[in-house]
Amino acid sequence: MKIMGVGGGAREHALAEAIARSTYSPKVYWVSELRNPGIYRIVKKTGGEYALAKTTDPIRVAELAERWGIDIVVVGPEEPNFHGIPDEVERRGIPCIGAKQKLSIIEMSKAEMRRLQWRFNIPGKLLFKTYRSYEEAIRDLEKHAETLTWLQNVALKPARQAGGKGVKVVEDVQAYLRKEKRQFKERHIRWIEQYMSKYGDIEERILIEEKVWGPEYTLQCFVDGKTVVGMPLVQDNKHAYEYDIGPETGGMGSYTGKGYLLPFITKEEYDRSLEIVKAMVNAIQKVTGERYHGFIAGQMMLTEVEGPTLIEMYSRLGDPEGVNVMAMLKTDIIEIFEAIIDERLSKVKIEFSDVATVVKAMAPKGYPDFRDLAKNHPVYVDEKVIEEAGCKLYWGSVHLNEDGSMKSGGSRMIEILAFGDSPQEASVKIEECLKKKPVRLLDGWQLFYRTDIGSEEMIRKRTEIAERVRRLYKYREERGILGKRVDWLPKVGRIDPVKNLLEELKR
Ligand code: GLY
Repeated sequence: MKIMGVGGGAREHALAEAIARSTYSPKVYWVSELRNPGIYRIVKKTGGEYALAKTTDPIRVAELAERWGIDIVVVGPEEPNFHGIPDEVERRGIPCIGAKQKLSIIEMSKAEMRRLQWRFNIPGKLLFKTYRSYEEAIRDLEKHAETLTWLQNVALKPARQAGGKGVKVVEDVQAYLRKEKRQFKERHIRWIEQYMSKYGDIEERILIEEKVWGPEYTLQCFVDGKTVVGMPLVQDNKHAYEYDIGPETGGMGSYTGKGYLLPFITKEEYDRSLEIVKAMVNAIQKVTGERYHGFIAGQMMLTEVEGPTLIEMYSRLGDPEGVNVMAMLKTDIIEIFEAIIDERLSKVKIEFSDVATVVKAMAPKGYPDFRDLAKNHPVYVDEKVIEEAGCKLYWGSVHLNEDGSMKSGGSRMIEILAFGDSPQEASVKIEECLKKKPVRLLDGWQLFYRTDIGSEEMIRKRTEIAERVRRLYKYREERGILGKRVDWLPKVGRIDPVKNLLEELKR
């Protein structure tokens, strides 16, 4: 059997490794923009081939699949989905594990995702507004922000998936800060507009959502068009530095607990989150008339106002979250792929090892905002030290040259995983390993990573937050006011922003 993967990061390395573990002994083929050293090794070992190509070019990717006589294609990142790689591959008769273009809108357009959720009345919703331009956003905020309370505490986001970047929260805690807050808001909206100007595939540029607060977690799933199968929960940590400070990145590290749950999320919350993801899959299938074959994920938050709340959706596995679950997967992944293609996922027993995992990403300084600075540094990795420390190495944004030397690609460079009885134990294992400095840039350029991912302190902090939020949403739930919002306007009286939004969506 021949399996071809698309995409060149650590998530794809973990996917390639899961494929290579299969009892089908597949030949592994791969297409990515940089030559990932870990995937390349798997390709060579299994007798496959590796091509460097633009992974957003459907014709080029599908031609390679045809030329190599591939049996199944699997897509890792989101942009190939947004550009219709699965559509073109399947048009040529090759089954693909990846969300087709129309389905991947659920990730590409955060506004479409939210509209769909409101339209189908799926729990875990947030109030939102979208704008096509800076001027429109500022005009609207000026008009309403002083009176509509939810507009005073908002998250400002690019309306398109932006690799985890560009979310800013604005809170109005003190009146004297208004001027500064307004300037901050304006600056960020201007930044979003500029950032979005490189994308011609979406008209809405700016998304404003009510600001919520609580612990985040990712629920990744397999989908076959009929059945959605949830995987163990993972928590990703987006900020660049310890204690959740610094710019937002694609994710600096992630962890899982044992038994499918995180130490601070209950089984009931897992089940409710899974119902939300299932309902979103049904909704997107209904409006597009397409069958969803591949991975999907709900990036969730436990919030006071809604309980398990949907923040975003991924039309793929997360990175690094995909590394945790692929390393834990016990069932043969090709068996799962075949079941997805034949839409009989409900018949397959999908199992994961009952262990905790931690993944820590390392990136060159400059990432995420000044990627040019993080690029083209010579890379050295002592794989033996990592192995002897009981850890696993996943190569990310690194290019393997023809002569065997390696250079950094400007993004997260490697991800290190460890198993343990608890995230804390796995985290300590990685810390011990990294103390020996097995990963370096030979020109002396600095690398950074977060020492706190999965640590005792991090878990304690997340647990405290989750307990507070849970008390509040349960309190609302018991009184039948979960999801209720009320505003008050002078001369108007009480208003219901949910009703208003629903009316707006009908127009
Ligand atoms: N870890 C966040 C993402 O995959 O987008």
